[in-house]
Amino acid sequence: MGAITLRAPAKINLTLDILGKRPDGYHDMRMVMQAVSLGDTVTVSEAGEGFSLSAEGIDLPAGKVTLEQQAAEAFFRALNRPMPGLRVLLEKRVPAYAGLGGGSADAAAVLRCLRRLYAPELPREALEEIGLSVGSDVPFCVRGGTCLAEGRGEILTDLPPLPDCAIILCKPNFGLPTPELFRRVDGADLGTRPDPAAMGAALERGELSSAAACLGNVFERVLTEQEGAEIRSIKDLLLRGGALGAAMSGSGPTVYGLFDHPDRAAQALELLKGRYRETYLAHPVKKFSQAE
Ligand code: C5P
Repeated sequence: MGAITLRAPAKINLTLDILGKRPDGYHDMRMVMQAVSLGDTVTVSEAGEGFSLSAEGIDLPAGKVTLEQQAAEAFFRALNRPMPGLRVLLEKRVPAYAGLGGGSADAAAVLRCLRRLYAPELPREALEEIGLSVGSDVPFCVRGGTCLAEGRGEILTDLPPLPDCAIILCKPNFGLPTPELFRRVDGADLGTRPDPAAMGAALERGELSSAAACLGNVFERVLTEQEGAEIRSIKDLLLRGGALGAAMSGSGPTVYGLFDHPDRAAQALELLKGRYRETYLAHPVKKFSQAE
């Protein structure tokens, strides 16, 4: 058995709305997700016994079953086969706990690698279903590209891609734990909601500026004074630097801006990098093929 290496693109939420809390404790979502070129690289090979994970660029959490291991175990459970010894190597570039789905993307890439190694005929839908048992954003990360995501995030409808553009991603240096943000949403007045239909129509027309005008994330409405001030200040810097639109991604705190001018994006990247170490330039990426 050889080794397979695949990229694990991060995602941004072009729109994110929360429709309500469900009896199972999760929330019903409606979001437009876009895969981006900022990503990790994941290599899976059959080796030794048990499951081992190593990473360049980060310290792995000790004493926890990682999402990568959960993904591998769920994969072989679904295939009704014993799990062979596996070695997973991550090259980390996506910041963790950033609203960019980095952990979900890595788990999804493990699933895609395992499909290549052990079950090349397994349909994407089956892989997405296995992904949902690992996390709500994993099904989208299995598919990639541009999707409307509903339910917990697993009911996916393909959308036309975001027109090519420069995306500046900027993560301020504070954490916004996802479960805590969902708790703040319960019972809160979320105000005007983002309009995913308008976003879909803008994508259909291939109009970047119309898409940029539809960005929105209801998690921005439940930030504390201090958190909100920092998110707004990054958005201002992006917009004053020429972004057509800017929003927080997922449960934050990463803020991104969409640029149609590469030069303006390059300038904004330099400016923001001077203030925020974790600032990146990326582009939209397309849906994976079955072989990826
Ligand atoms: O599915 P995942 O494990 O990534 O979710 C992490 C946490 O985020 C959940 O425990 C839950 O608190 C919250 N969540 C939610 N509704 C969703 C997705 C996540 O309440 N649709």
